[in-house]
Amino acid sequence: MKLLKLGGSIITDRDKPCTFRPENATRLAKEIAAAECKIAIVHGAGSFGHNLAHDYSLHKGYSEDSQIPIVAQVQRDVKKLNLMILEKLLSVGVRAVGIAPSSHALNDNKLLSKFDTDQFKVYIKEGFVPVSFGDVVLDVGVYRNKEGMKREMKFSILSGDQILEELGKKLQTQRIISVTDVDGVFDSNPKTNPNARLLKTVTRKQFLQICMDSEAGSDSTERPDVTGAMENKLEALFNLADLGKECWVINGLVEGRLLSALGNEPLGETFIGTRVIS
Ligand code: IPE
Repeated sequence: MKLLKLGGSIITDRDKPCTFRPENATRLAKEIAAAECKIAIVHGAGSFGHNLAHDYSLHKGYSEDSQIPIVAQVQRDVKKLNLMILEKLLSVGVRAVGIAPSSHALNDNKLLSKFDTDQFKVYIKEGFVPVSFGDVVLDVGVYRNKEGMKREMKFSILSGDQILEELGKKLQTQRIISVTDVDGVFDSNPKTNPNARLLKTVTRKQFLQICMDSEAGSDSTERPDVTGAMENKLEALFNLADLGKECWVINGLVEGRLLSALGNEPLGETFIGTRVIS
C-alpha cells in the first residue's frame, strides 16, 4: 500500500488565509483515483492552519486564555479543508473517509503520544481510503515559561508529517510520497536560486549540510509556518527511510507526477523527484 502526504502549499494558497486551491485538489484527486491503489492520505493545513496558529503561537502551547477560542477556530478550519478534500476524492470515486486527529490523538510536549492507527487499519481493510490532516490537538505535557513557572501545554500542533511518520511505522506501507510544490529536494533553494540542482537522492547528513550552507530546503519560504521549514518536514521521511521504507518527495503541480509515483513499478532514472534515504 501507499502512503501520501499532500502538502498544504499545493492544496491551499499560503498567501491568503483559508483559501483552497480547487484545481490542484481536483487534479490530484483524479490521479489518486486513476492509480487504483490501496492508499492512506494525510494532508497539511496550509493557510487553513498556519496563519492563525502562528499569530496566536498555538505551536508553543498554552500561555493565555485568548488562545482557547483560536484553538477551536483552527480545528474547525482544518476540518473544513478536510471536507473539501473529501469532496474532491468522493466525486472521482475514491472511498475517502476523514479522520480528525483532534478527536483521538494526544501530544506530550509537542510529540505525538497517542494515535489510533488501528482505526486506519480497519478502514483500509474494508476498502476505504482514510484521509487525515495536520491539526491542533490536546497536549498533556508541561513546560516552563520565560519566568520559569510551570505551565500546562494544554494543546499543540500535530503536523501532517508527524502523522505520516506514525502511519508509515505502523501500516504495511510499500512507498511513502510527500507531495510538494517543487520537484523534490534541491542543493539550494530553487525558489531563490535559478541554478539550484535537483537531487536524485538525499541523506539526512547531506540535507543538514545543505541547510547549514544555504538555508536551503525544497519549499522554504518567508510565510508563517508553525511546523518548521523543510528540514523538520523531511525528518519524518528520514526516520521512515531509516526503517527501510521507500520515501519520496515529488512535485504535485506537474500533471501525472503523482500518478506515476503511485504506480507499482520501481521509480526509475527518468522519474523526477527525490528519494529520501538513510
Ligand atoms: C500543520 O500541519 C497543522 C496546523 C498548523 C494546524 P502541516 O505542517 O502538516 O501543514 P502544511 O503541510 O505545512 O501546510
